[in-house]
Amino acid sequence: MARHIAAQFGEEADHVTLLLAAVESGNQDRERVVAAAVLGAHGDVLELGRLVELSQRDWRDVLVAGGLEHGDWPDVLDTWLGPVDHLSRARSLRSVEDAATFYRAWAADYDRDVFERSGVIGSDRIAALLADALPGPDVRVVDLGCGTGAVGVRLAERGVHHVTGLDLSPEMLDVARTKHAYDELVVADLNDELLGVRWRQAFGASVSAGTFTHGHVGATAVPQLLAMLTPGALIAWVVATPLWPAFRDAFDRSGVTVLSAGLEPIRRGADDVAHMVLAQLT
Ligand SMILES: C[S@@+](CC[C@H](N)C(=O)[O-])C[C@H]1O[C@@H](n2cnc3c(N)ncnc32)[C@H](O)[C@@H]1O
Repeated sequence: MARHIAAQFGEEADHVTLLLAAVESGNQDRERVVAAAVLGAHGDVLELGRLVELSQRDWRDVLVAGGLEHGDWPDVLDTWLGPVDHLSRARSLRSVEDAATFYRAWAADYDRDVFERSGVIGSDRIAALLADALPGPDVRVVDLGCGTGAVGVRLAERGVHHVTGLDLSPEMLDVARTKHAYDELVVADLNDELLGVRWRQAFGASVSAGTFTHGHVGATAVPQLLAMLTPGALIAWVVATPLWPAFRDAFDRSGVTVLSAGLEPIRRGADDVAHMVLAQLT
């Protein structure tokens, strides 16, 4: 986007960036409204200022001005910006609210973008790691940040059928529901300390892919996530490399034994790696 602002507004690009900070996007994906304002201004700073003001009254009019009012807006935006790397954007989320908005907008295309286009294999790999380690098929498993259900589907293919999925985004859960791989799917913020009260020792295993990463859920959530597990429970989590030291420390403090934590690729044919952690609560 910065490149496009520079190309369209030249020396006034910095001023335009400041103006755009005042865009109001209501419950909409903010990038959509900002992009619509830039597109609708056609390089005219006065017009951009008018569209920013308009966003504060009704952001829908700004979408119309920029031609992003229809459901195909991600494709229109992709054509303009070049393919948007959602995976990079996901890692730059700054708050739970950002994450909820981002995944609301991405839910319908997530599977296509992540598994078909980007070749993500982390969910498949962690499901296999857990399924191979489980003592039997009847263990109750919780999938943390289950999203559209990739891990649940892979577990079901390996004979693990008692899985509860938790996720911040109701829209991601709606997609997961169509896959019939979960006992239940529940909207939950993993940062909520009360999770350990609501689901106290409810699960014999915990699995997670793509959730313990920048802009998502960090090691501060570990205590409530462990409180949901029975003694001896297995933990199979994908943890982003920079976050792993804090997770390992949290495990050390909480009586979790790390059985393995190898660095493995999470995307086919890419340099992306993460820790595939198999651990056990004592
Ligand atoms: C990259 S996706 C991974 C989804 C799925 N596990 C997979 O393998 O495809 C990350 C998921 O984490 C969820 N998430 C982010 N922050 C969260 C939070 N604080 N509590 C619960 N879920 C969260 C998002 O809604 C999203 O569905």
